[in-house]
Amino acid sequence: MENLSELNEKTSNNIGYIFSEKLLDISSKNPIIKGRSKIVHSLIKSYNLLENIDIVKSKPSSYAELRKFHSEDYCNVLKEFPSENNRDNYSDENTENESEAEITAEDCLSEYGLGFDCPIWFGLYDYCKEIAGSTISACEEIVNGRKIVINWFGGWHHAQRSQAAGYCYVNDVVLGILKLREYFNKILYIDFDIHHGDAVANAFESTKKVVCLSFHQYEPGFYPGSGNVEEIGFGTAKGYTINFPYKSGLQGDLFTEYSVKLIRNVVEKFKPNVIVVQCGADSITGDPLGNSNLKPKDITDCIKCILNEKLPTLFLGGGGYHFANTSRYWTYLTSLIKNVDLPEDIPGEDEYFLKYSPGYELSIQPRNIKDLNTRKYFDEIMSKIKEQLNLIE
Ligand code: FE2
Repeated sequence: MENLSELNEKTSNNIGYIFSEKLLDISSKNPIIKGRSKIVHSLIKSYNLLENIDIVKSKPSSYAELRKFHSEDYCNVLKEFPSENNRDNYSDENTENESEAEITAEDCLSEYGLGFDCPIWFGLYDYCKEIAGSTISACEEIVNGRKIVINWFGGWHHAQRSQAAGYCYVNDVVLGILKLREYFNKILYIDFDIHHGDAVANAFESTKKVVCLSFHQYEPGFYPGSGNVEEIGFGTAKGYTINFPYKSGLQGDLFTEYSVKLIRNVVEKFKPNVIVVQCGADSITGDPLGNSNLKPKDITDCIKCILNEKLPTLFLGGGGYHFANTSRYWTYLTSLIKNVDLPEDIPGEDEYFLKYSPGYELSIQPRNIKDLNTRKYFDEIMSKIKEQLNLIE
C-alpha cells in the first residue's frame, strides 16, 4: 500500500483524488461489492494516474453529518452495528448467537430496508461513516477551491432518508450536495448509472437550487421502477427534475448524440455553479445487472462536455457489478479527466492482473444484443424534456 505523504509529493494540477487506507479497506468489505474498490484503485495506480494528482485524505463523517439527511431513527439503527474490531466482545456479551442478522431484531431491520438487498455485517456503521465522509470530504475540497475532485468510493444514490435501498445504506450524494449548497447557489447533478437516481431526485424534487438529470434504463420490472420522463419535480420546482429513460441494449452513437445535446441544453438554461456527476459503471456493457451496451469511450463526449464548462466538478462512482469492467471504466474516466492517453494493455504488474482475462486490455467489447432504442423514441423523449426546460428559470 502506498504512503499518503509520498503520494502527495506529486505536483498538483488542481485535480483531487479521494483516498484513505481505511476507506479502501472498509469499502471493500461491503458484501455486494467485496474487493471492488481495491481492484479499481490498484488499476488507477498501475497506470500511474495518481502522478500529478493530489490525494485528498477522506475523513469519516460524524453522526451529526449523517443526520443532515437521514432520520434520527435510521441513524440510531445504523449506530447499533458494532465495529468489526468489537465483533468478539459483541458476540460474547451481547448475543447468544453470532449471526449478524441478530444484531437488531429482524422486523426492525426490514422497516429500515436492511437485510434483503442491503445485507448487514459487523462494521456496517463504520462503512456508512466512511462512504458518507468520502463524498463530504470531496465537497469540502471543492468548497476550498479545488476545481475537480474524483471519488470512486461514492455515488450511492438509492439510500432514502430512513431506508437503505438497492445496495445503498447512506446517501453520500445527497449529503455532498447539501454541503455544496452551503456555499454554491445552483447545483447540477448528472447521473449516468443504469438505475434511476431516485433518492437524490426525491431529496431535491421541491427545490429550484438543484437540477437532477438522470439517464437510466426504464422498463417494466427494472429497478427501481421510477424515472419516467413525466416525473419532473413538484410545486415551484416543476421542471427541475429531468429524466432521460432508455431501453435495453443501448449503444453509443445514439446515446452520445442525445446526452451531449441534453447536457448542453440544461447547462445553458440552468447555469449551475457546480456539477456533481455520478458515473455508475453498471451502465457499461457486460454488467450483470444492466442491459446497456455502452462502451467506456461512449461516455467520452459527455465527460468532455461537462469538463468544458470549466465549473467545479465532482465525479462519483456508484453501481458496477462486473468488477474488472468497473475498474476499466473508472480508470479510463480518470485518464480522461486528467487528459492523458493510456496504453491498451493492462499493466502486467497490477496486483489483480488476472481479473482482466482473457484479453488483458483496457477497452471493453460490446455484446451482440439488440438495441431497443430508436431515433424516433429518443426524439420523443427530447421533445418532452425541451418543453419542460422552459420551466427552468
Ligand atoms: Fe446502479
